[in-house]
Amino acid sequence: MKKILIAGNWKMNKTLRETEIFLEALLPADFPSIEGVICPPFTALGIANKHLRNSGLSLGAQNMDPHDFGAFTGEVSPLMLQELGVRYIILGHSERRTIFGESDECLRLKVKSAIEHRLMPILCVGETLEERERGITEKVIQKQLAGALQGLEVFPPLVIAYEPVWAIGTGKTATPAEAQQAHAFLRSILQNLWGTASDAIRILYGGSMNTRNAEDLLCQKDIDGGLIGGASLKAESFRELLAIAQQLSQR
Ligand code: 13P
Repeated sequence: MKKILIAGNWKMNKTLRETEIFLEALLPADFPSIEGVICPPFTALGIANKHLRNSGLSLGAQNMDPHDFGAFTGEVSPLMLQELGVRYIILGHSERRTIFGESDECLRLKVKSAIEHRLMPILCVGETLEERERGITEKVIQKQLAGALQGLEVFPPLVIAYEPVWAIGTGKTATPAEAQQAHAFLRSILQNLWGTASDAIRILYGGSMNTRNAEDLLCQKDIDGGLIGGASLKAESFRELLAIAQQLSQR
């Protein structure tokens, strides 16, 4: 059975000191039936790695350049992330797509490079409100998924995150039924690509997930975890989310 995955995406939040305060409050965090991941900004990866060692929680980063090294001012390579104990890498977050102009083609290179470097991509897809209202949600997420996964013939180690853009940071969560519908659609695309073996790929929901709505969302058949922004910034609420997931996985 797939372990529920709860990943906190801190975005551009927390200094070194704030990271330490958070981790001192969170640890020890004993949730053996699930997987918990923290994705701090690049600057806090080193200190987070020290604290998370042997904690049962894993470390993730929020972006990565696909090259190993070279003249790419301001970028961070997979080799540098490996060295910091990073295991997961969020790719194609809607903020990267819209603010920094990341295309499906650029994400294809990043996904491929992450897999080659044994970093587990958390590939994000999701429609805007306008796209949902136009009834093209499935078309949009299919294009994003196919674009980033193109050329991957072998069944890859991969996590997908469905994050409807209109639910990110807005307090407006997709209903469990809306989320489930999108997840089932993504699941069917993965099955078409790689058969039933692809059922091992976890599909996370992201977008205003919090301690009040997590249980209803995580109970849905095709929701295998959460990618959490705001509610991952406080140790108490992140711990509660881990505890909810732990409880569900023991049912
Ligand atoms: P919020 O949980 O703050 O809506 O953010 C979701 C998100 O973007 C996680 O990647």
